[in-house]
Amino acid sequence: MIKLTNLEKVYRTSSIQTLALHNVNLEVEKGEFLSIMGPSGCGKSTLLNIMGLLDNPTSGQILLDGHAVANLPDRELARIRNRKLGFIFQSYHLIPDLNVLDNVELPLIYRKVSGAERKKLALAALEKVGLSARTKHYPNQLSGGQRQRVAIARAIVGQPEVILADEPTGNLDSVMGEEIMNILLQLNQQDGTTIVMVTHDESQAKKTGRLIRFFDGQQVNTETYAAQLS
Ligand SMILES: Nc1ncnc2c1ncn2[C@@H]1O[C@H](COP(=O)(O)OP(=O)(O)OP(=O)(O)O)[C@@H](O)[C@H]1O
Ligand SMILES: [Mg+2]
Repeated sequence: MIKLTNLEKVYRTSSIQTLALHNVNLEVEKGEFLSIMGPSGCGKSTLLNIMGLLDNPTSGQILLDGHAVANLPDRELARIRNRKLGFIFQSYHLIPDLNVLDNVELPLIYRKVSGAERKKLALAALEKVGLSARTKHYPNQLSGGQRQRVAIARAIVGQPEVILADEPTGNLDSVMGEEIMNILLQLNQQDGTTIVMVTHDESQAKKTGRLIRFFDGQQVNTETYAAQLS
Protein backbone atom coordinates (compact mmCIF):
# COMPACT_ATOMS: atom_id res chain seq x y z
CA MET A 1 0.00 0.00 0.00
CA ILE A 2 2.71 2.47 1.08
CA LYS A 3 6.39 1.78 0.50
CA LEU A 4 9.14 4.13 1.64
CA THR A 5 12.67 3.56 0.38
CA ASN A 6 15.84 5.26 1.63
CA LEU A 7 13.86 8.22 2.85
CA GLU A 8 15.81 11.25 4.07
CA LYS A 9 14.46 14.52 5.37
CA VAL A 10 16.71 17.45 6.15
CA TYR A 11 15.28 20.73 7.41
CA ARG A 12 17.53 23.61 6.44
CA THR A 13 17.36 27.13 7.74
CA SER A 14 20.02 29.78 7.20
CA SER A 15 21.88 28.82 10.37
CA ILE A 16 20.95 25.21 11.19
CA GLN A 17 20.43 21.92 9.46
CA THR A 18 18.35 19.19 11.09
CA LEU A 19 18.40 15.61 9.90
CA ALA A 20 14.81 14.63 10.77
CA LEU A 21 14.70 11.28 8.95
CA HIS A 22 17.64 9.14 7.96
CA ASN A 23 17.55 6.09 5.70
CA VAL A 24 13.97 5.10 6.53
CA ASN A 25 12.71 1.95 4.80
CA LEU A 26 9.19 0.96 5.62
CA GLU A 27 6.35 -0.90 4.01
CA VAL A 28 2.73 -0.58 5.14
CA GLU A 29 0.50 -3.44 4.00
CA LYS A 30 -3.06 -2.95 2.86
CA GLY A 31 -5.44 -3.43 5.80
CA GLU A 32 -2.69 -3.10 8.40
CA PHE A 33 -2.91 -1.07 11.63
CA LEU A 34 0.59 0.20 12.30
CA SER A 35 1.66 2.33 15.24
CA ILE A 36 4.78 4.46 15.59
CA MET A 37 6.36 5.44 18.89
CA GLY A 38 9.51 7.30 19.88
CA PRO A 39 10.77 10.27 21.89
CA SER A 40 9.80 13.85 21.08
CA GLY A 41 11.68 15.17 18.08
CA CYS A 42 12.61 11.77 16.64
CA GLY A 43 10.78 12.43 13.36
CA LYS A 44 7.36 10.79 13.80
CA SER A 45 5.28 13.72 12.54
CA THR A 46 7.77 14.35 9.75
CA LEU A 47 7.36 10.74 8.65
CA LEU A 48 3.57 10.88 8.79
CA ASN A 49 3.47 14.17 6.86
CA ILE A 50 5.67 12.71 4.14
CA MET A 51 3.55 9.53 4.00
CA GLY A 52 0.49 11.75 3.74
CA LEU A 53 1.99 13.79 0.89
CA LEU A 54 1.83 16.95 2.99
CA ASP A 55 5.60 17.35 2.77
CA ASN A 56 8.31 16.24 0.34
CA PRO A 57 11.27 14.11 1.38
CA THR A 58 14.75 15.50 0.73
CA SER A 59 15.56 12.23 -1.02
CA GLY A 60 14.19 8.72 -1.31
CA GLN A 61 11.15 7.16 -2.87
CA ILE A 62 7.47 6.88 -1.88
CA LEU A 63 5.28 4.33 -3.61
CA LEU A 64 1.54 4.56 -3.06
CA ASP A 65 -0.24 1.54 -4.51
CA GLY A 66 2.84 0.94 -6.64
CA HIS A 67 2.97 4.49 -8.06
CA ALA A 68 5.88 6.81 -7.30
CA VAL A 69 4.43 9.93 -5.69
CA ALA A 70 7.41 11.85 -4.30
CA ASN A 71 7.74 15.25 -5.97
CA LEU A 72 4.62 15.12 -8.14
CA PRO A 73 3.09 18.54 -8.91
CA ASP A 74 1.10 20.02 -5.99
CA ARG A 75 -2.26 19.72 -7.73
CA GLU A 76 -1.72 16.03 -8.39
CA LEU A 77 -0.62 15.49 -4.77
CA ALA A 78 -3.74 17.27 -3.51
CA ARG A 79 -5.93 15.08 -5.69
CA ILE A 80 -4.32 11.85 -4.41
CA ARG A 81 -4.56 13.10 -0.81
CA ASN A 82 -8.23 13.88 -1.18
CA ARG A 83 -9.10 10.52 -2.78
CA LYS A 84 -6.95 8.09 -0.88
CA LEU A 85 -5.96 9.55 2.47
CA GLY A 86 -7.66 10.71 5.65
CA PHE A 87 -5.87 12.71 8.34
CA ILE A 88 -6.44 12.97 12.08
CA PHE A 89 -4.33 15.39 14.14
CA GLN A 90 -3.75 15.77 17.86
CA SER A 91 -5.28 19.25 17.81
CA TYR A 92 -8.27 18.25 15.63
CA HIS A 93 -7.84 21.04 13.00
CA LEU A 94 -11.58 21.70 12.69
CA ILE A 95 -12.83 24.91 11.12
CA PRO A 96 -14.33 27.03 13.94
CA ASP A 97 -16.83 28.90 11.73
CA LEU A 98 -18.40 25.72 10.35
CA ASN A 99 -20.79 23.51 12.27
CA VAL A 100 -20.13 19.79 12.76
CA LEU A 101 -21.96 18.69 9.64
CA ASP A 102 -20.23 21.26 7.42
CA ASN A 103 -16.80 20.37 8.82
CA VAL A 104 -17.39 16.72 7.97
CA GLU A 105 -18.68 17.52 4.46
CA LEU A 106 -15.60 19.57 3.60
CA PRO A 107 -13.46 16.88 1.88
CA LEU A 108 -16.44 16.06 -0.35
CA ILE A 109 -16.79 19.67 -1.49
CA TYR A 110 -13.29 19.47 -2.97
CA ARG A 111 -14.48 16.36 -4.82
CA LYS A 112 -17.50 18.18 -6.18
CA VAL A 113 -20.00 15.75 -4.62
CA SER A 114 -23.60 17.07 -4.76
CA GLY A 115 -25.11 18.71 -1.67
CA ALA A 116 -27.64 15.98 -0.97
CA GLU A 117 -25.05 13.23 -1.33
CA ARG A 118 -22.60 15.14 0.87
CA LYS A 119 -25.15 15.41 3.63
CA LYS A 120 -26.01 11.73 3.44
CA LEU A 121 -22.36 10.64 3.59
CA ALA A 122 -21.53 13.11 6.38
CA LEU A 123 -24.45 11.93 8.51
CA ALA A 124 -23.37 8.32 7.99
CA ALA A 125 -19.81 9.16 9.06
CA LEU A 126 -21.08 11.02 12.14
CA GLU A 127 -23.23 8.06 13.08
CA LYS A 128 -20.17 5.82 12.91
CA VAL A 129 -18.42 7.94 15.53
CA GLY A 130 -21.55 8.32 17.68
CA LEU A 131 -22.15 12.02 17.06
CA SER A 132 -25.46 12.08 15.21
CA ALA A 133 -26.96 14.28 17.93
CA ARG A 134 -24.42 17.11 17.48
CA THR A 135 -24.58 18.02 13.79
CA LYS A 136 -25.53 21.69 14.34
CA HIS A 137 -22.99 22.36 17.09
CA TYR A 138 -19.86 24.39 16.44
CA PRO A 139 -16.43 23.03 17.41
CA ASN A 140 -16.15 25.34 20.45
CA GLN A 141 -19.40 23.87 21.79
CA LEU A 142 -17.93 20.37 21.92
CA SER A 143 -15.69 18.49 24.34
CA GLY A 144 -12.20 17.43 23.24
CA GLY A 145 -13.30 13.86 22.65
CA GLN A 146 -16.29 15.01 20.63
CA ARG A 147 -14.06 17.28 18.53
CA GLN A 148 -11.74 14.40 17.83
CA ARG A 149 -14.71 12.27 16.78
CA VAL A 150 -15.77 15.00 14.34
CA ALA A 151 -12.21 14.99 12.99
CA ILE A 152 -12.42 11.21 12.55
CA ALA A 153 -15.78 11.54 10.77
CA ARG A 154 -14.19 14.12 8.45
CA ALA A 155 -11.24 11.79 7.83
CA ILE A 156 -13.47 8.82 6.92
CA VAL A 157 -16.29 10.58 5.05
CA GLY A 158 -14.61 10.07 1.67
CA GLN A 159 -13.88 6.42 2.47
CA PRO A 160 -10.10 6.75 2.24
CA GLU A 161 -7.99 3.62 1.91
CA VAL A 162 -5.52 4.95 4.46
CA ILE A 163 -5.92 6.95 7.66
CA LEU A 164 -2.89 8.76 9.06
CA ALA A 165 -3.33 9.73 12.68
CA ASP A 166 -0.78 11.87 14.56
CA GLU A 167 -1.34 11.38 18.29
CA PRO A 168 -5.13 11.26 17.91
CA THR A 169 -5.64 10.75 21.64
CA GLY A 170 -2.81 13.00 22.84
CA ASN A 171 -5.15 15.69 24.19
CA LEU A 172 -7.74 13.34 25.70
CA ASP A 173 -8.18 11.63 29.05
CA SER A 174 -7.70 7.89 29.15
CA VAL A 175 -11.40 7.00 28.95
CA MET A 176 -11.97 9.21 25.91
CA GLY A 177 -8.68 8.02 24.44
CA GLU A 178 -9.84 4.45 24.66
CA GLU A 179 -13.10 5.33 22.95
CA ILE A 180 -11.26 6.96 20.05
CA MET A 181 -8.93 3.98 19.88
CA ASN A 182 -11.91 1.64 19.63
CA ILE A 183 -13.35 3.65 16.73
CA LEU A 184 -10.02 3.34 14.92
CA LEU A 185 -9.81 -0.40 15.63
CA GLN A 186 -13.32 -0.84 14.29
CA LEU A 187 -12.50 1.08 11.10
CA ASN A 188 -9.50 -1.15 10.62
CA GLN A 189 -11.12 -4.48 11.42
CA GLN A 190 -14.61 -3.98 10.01
CA ASP A 191 -13.98 -1.68 7.05
CA GLY A 192 -10.44 -2.81 6.27
CA THR A 193 -9.05 0.74 6.42
CA THR A 194 -5.27 0.85 6.59
CA ILE A 195 -4.17 2.97 9.57
CA VAL A 196 -0.83 4.46 10.56
CA MET A 197 -0.93 6.04 14.01
CA VAL A 198 1.69 7.95 15.98
CA THR A 199 1.14 7.58 19.71
CA HIS A 200 2.86 8.07 23.06
CA ASP A 201 0.59 5.48 24.66
CA GLU A 202 2.22 2.08 24.90
CA SER A 203 -1.03 0.28 25.74
CA GLN A 204 -2.74 1.70 22.66
CA ALA A 205 0.18 0.82 20.44
CA LYS A 206 -0.03 -2.76 21.63
CA LYS A 207 -3.61 -3.00 20.38
CA THR A 208 -2.43 -2.39 16.82
CA GLY A 209 -0.93 -5.07 14.60
CA ARG A 210 2.62 -3.75 14.50
CA LEU A 211 4.59 -1.21 16.51
CA ILE A 212 7.60 0.52 15.05
CA ARG A 213 9.91 2.43 17.35
CA PHE A 214 11.86 5.42 16.14
CA PHE A 215 14.90 7.12 17.59
CA ASP A 216 16.80 10.05 16.06
CA GLY A 217 15.07 9.79 12.69
CA GLN A 218 15.57 6.07 12.31
CA GLN A 219 13.58 2.95 12.85
CA VAL A 220 15.13 1.02 15.73
CA ASN A 221 12.73 -1.81 16.51
CA THR A 222 9.55 -3.56 15.38
CA GLU A 223 7.09 -5.56 17.46
CA THR A 224 4.04 -7.38 16.15
CA TYR A 225 0.82 -8.05 18.03
CA ALA A 226 -2.48 -9.78 17.48
CA ALA A 227 -4.73 -6.75 16.92
CA GLN A 228 -7.71 -6.69 19.27
CA LEU A 229 -10.79 -4.70 20.16
CA SER A 230 -10.76 -3.89 23.85
N1 LIG B 1 9.76 23.02 9.84
C1 LIG B 1 10.87 22.61 10.48
N2 LIG B 1 12.03 23.28 10.37
C2 LIG B 1 13.15 22.86 10.97
N3 LIG B 1 13.23 21.76 11.75
C3 LIG B 1 12.11 21.04 11.91
C4 LIG B 1 10.87 21.42 11.30
N4 LIG B 1 9.91 20.51 11.63
C5 LIG B 1 10.53 19.61 12.43
N5 LIG B 1 11.84 19.92 12.60
C6 LIG B 1 12.83 19.16 13.37
O1 LIG B 1 12.80 17.81 12.91
C7 LIG B 1 12.87 16.90 14.00
C8 LIG B 1 11.69 15.94 13.96
O2 LIG B 1 10.48 16.66 14.23
P1 LIG B 1 9.07 15.94 14.33
O3 LIG B 1 8.03 16.99 14.45
O4 LIG B 1 8.95 14.98 13.20
O5 LIG B 1 9.21 15.12 15.69
P2 LIG B 1 8.16 14.20 16.46
O6 LIG B 1 8.79 12.86 16.60
O7 LIG B 1 6.84 14.27 15.79
O8 LIG B 1 8.08 14.86 17.92
P3 LIG B 1 6.83 15.03 18.93
O9 LIG B 1 6.68 13.71 19.63
O10 LIG B 1 7.31 16.09 19.87
O11 LIG B 1 5.63 15.44 18.15
C9 LIG B 1 12.95 17.74 15.25
O12 LIG B 1 14.28 17.79 15.69
C10 LIG B 1 12.49 19.11 14.84
O13 LIG B 1 13.14 20.12 15.54
MG1 LIG C 1 4.96 15.03 16.35
